[in-house]
Amino acid sequence: MITVVFTSVLAGLFVLFLYQRMNNPFFWDDLIYYLKLRRYKKKLQARMQQGVITFLDCFLYQAKRNPDKPFIIFERQTLSYRDVDRRSNRFANAFRTEGSLKEGDVVAQLMCNEPDFICVWLGLCKLGCEVAFVNVNIKSRSLLHSFHSCGAKTLVVGADLVHLVKEVLPDLKKDNMAVWVVDHTSPSEDFTSLLDKVEHMSGETLFELPKVDIMSNFLFIFTSGTTGLSKAARIGHLKAIMSMAFFQMCGATSDDIIYITLPLYHMSASLLGLGGCIHLGATCVLKKKFSASQFWKDCVEHNVSVVQYIGELCRYLVNHPVVPEEKAHSVWLAAGSGLRSDVWKDFVRRFGSIKIREGYGLTEASIGFLNYTDEVGPIGRASYFNKVRTTKFEYLLRYDPQTYKPIRTDLGRCIRAQKGEAGLLVAPLTAMNQFLGYAGDIVQSEKKLLRDVFKTGDIYFNTGDLLLHDHRNFLYFRDRVGDTFRWKGENVSTTEVSEVLGLLDFIQEATVYGVTIPGHEGRAGMAAVVLKQDHKLNGTELYNHLVKALPAYAWPRFLRVQTYLHVTETFKQQKMKLVQEGFNLDLIQDPVYFLDIFQKNYVLLTGSLYQAIVSGEIHL
Ligand SMILES: *[C@@H]1O[C@H](CO)[C@@H](O)[C@H](O)[C@H]1NC(C)=O
Ligand SMILES: *[C@@H]1O[C@H](CO)[C@@H](O)[C@H](O)[C@H]1NC(C)=O
Ligand SMILES: *[C@@H]1O[C@H](CO)[C@@H](O)[C@H](O)[C@H]1NC(C)=O
Ligand SMILES: *[C@@H]1O[C@H](CO)[C@@H](O)[C@H](O)[C@H]1NC(C)=O
Repeated sequence: MITVVFTSVLAGLFVLFLYQRMNNPFFWDDLIYYLKLRRYKKKLQARMQQGVITFLDCFLYQAKRNPDKPFIIFERQTLSYRDVDRRSNRFANAFRTEGSLKEGDVVAQLMCNEPDFICVWLGLCKLGCEVAFVNVNIKSRSLLHSFHSCGAKTLVVGADLVHLVKEVLPDLKKDNMAVWVVDHTSPSEDFTSLLDKVEHMSGETLFELPKVDIMSNFLFIFTSGTTGLSKAARIGHLKAIMSMAFFQMCGATSDDIIYITLPLYHMSASLLGLGGCIHLGATCVLKKKFSASQFWKDCVEHNVSVVQYIGELCRYLVNHPVVPEEKAHSVWLAAGSGLRSDVWKDFVRRFGSIKIREGYGLTEASIGFLNYTDEVGPIGRASYFNKVRTTKFEYLLRYDPQTYKPIRTDLGRCIRAQKGEAGLLVAPLTAMNQFLGYAGDIVQSEKKLLRDVFKTGDIYFNTGDLLLHDHRNFLYFRDRVGDTFRWKGENVSTTEVSEVLGLLDFIQEATVYGVTIPGHEGRAGMAAVVLKQDHKLNGTELYNHLVKALPAYAWPRFLRVQTYLHVTETFKQQKMKLVQEGFNLDLIQDPVYFLDIFQKNYVLLTGSLYQAIVSGEIHL
């Protein structure tokens, strides 16, 4: 009897399994991800009951549980969780006694990646200060703007970045800014040296740790806007603690050794990367700066098992000449965002079987997806389980392609995009999805919000990103608003065109944008490209490739061959400059080519050809 029941249950399960496979081949992926999320929430709840609530709590928890575990490996140094805990206490004690810093003070931190970045940060957290991470690449006016916008009255600067501060010193003095330098001596009387003081401080917590409201602000991170100066986004404690799930959700454990080369002043490295490492109690191999030639060497030397990336980093790696270590490493996971499919293919072909986990996340709000199946292309899934988890999570709205504003009905309500149609990603503001706004900029903060979306009085955060939800419930990133242009009445996606260009073996990098031509509606496509070393531009091959890969309206009509492109910090500004220069030969030093459809080739844009296009003699 028992065997009969058992067999039929088994058969039933098998039928169910087949049914699921046929109807939803991603059932198991979805289920596993859902269970992981649940496990994370359970773990979080269990820790919360022990009083582990904030980012700092989580660090202290690990420092207590596993004090001797290596936490940071940097150059020739290894610091355990205890070492970092004690050193951050020393910093806290120095700031408290020598600088009278106290709870609620805003402190700007301008430092490159180094262990003391973390010790200073945690030290300030222990005093209850709000830290503002400042981008180390910005200068003078932007730097001052950063300090002002977050309201910092104290600045901590790394010894190697003193020159940046010297430029704006008179203004800082006017503002009564206290400037600390992370060094044993001070370069001038305007700076207070920190390390000589820290040496004499106690490594104990000689003060009371702040009582934190989980809904309050934790730190400021600057986001580069599409226009104007960068904005200081407020990051709440809740967002910080949620970010710490990143590596766990990707499947990493406390045994992993995580390699972080991205700058810590960005959210990815500080909250997702370092935070993710702390949450696991894992080890972080920290690099001052990403280096393509050192990357795999470091991975082998430190037995790295997990790396964090952004798209450009992977592109640099696949463009770098072969090094013997690139196959000898034990990296099993690469987690990050912005990896394009052409680069991804090269990446796994060349560097071995590395699992790629591509995520989508924003600095300002708590929206995130993780690509947890093995499907190439999507950034995440809108699965049944995700919907169960929270009934109201995120929505895609129908939008006007000219203005990128959501389309409203006669009653003023927004409309949800259909499956298979690109839509504007928005998320309701709730306790779990906070948007604390930008410091000192109500106008910019308000611009990110949509009101009266589905009913009067509701508020949504507008990500400005276009996503597509397909019939199999995959979510695809389509574009960041502004990354499309219209030509011949069609939408051209700049990312799509640059991906296609990137497939050619002589092109190393391509940035695509639209340029205006007198007498033409919309914008014609233009690509700024960098050629691979020892390769020449082959216009015929390029033309043939475009014919195969793209509709005619998406072909770049102009080509600007550059010796290099800035791909990191100032990418958006760089692109804006390119757009402004257009194909104007008076403004451009680089050779510019024009697509001659009849010759099926790219020809050099000469002065007379330029005149013929501008005057309308040649109509595109
Ligand atoms: C490197 O890591 C692997 C697995 O993570 C482990 O089995 C191995 O013992 C490690 N090797 C060294 C030298 O630490
Ligand atoms: C999603 O992950 C799979 C493998 O894990 C990868 O092949 C694919 O490229 C990823 N998607 C993106 C957009 O990177
Ligand atoms: C351009 O894109 C928008 C948004 O996806 C779409 O509604 C519109 O129909 C597109 N236009 C054309 C001509 O394809
Ligand atoms: C350019 O590409 C075409 C087609 O792929 C090829 O036939 C031709 O030889 C190439 N020209 C040069 C100069 O390499």
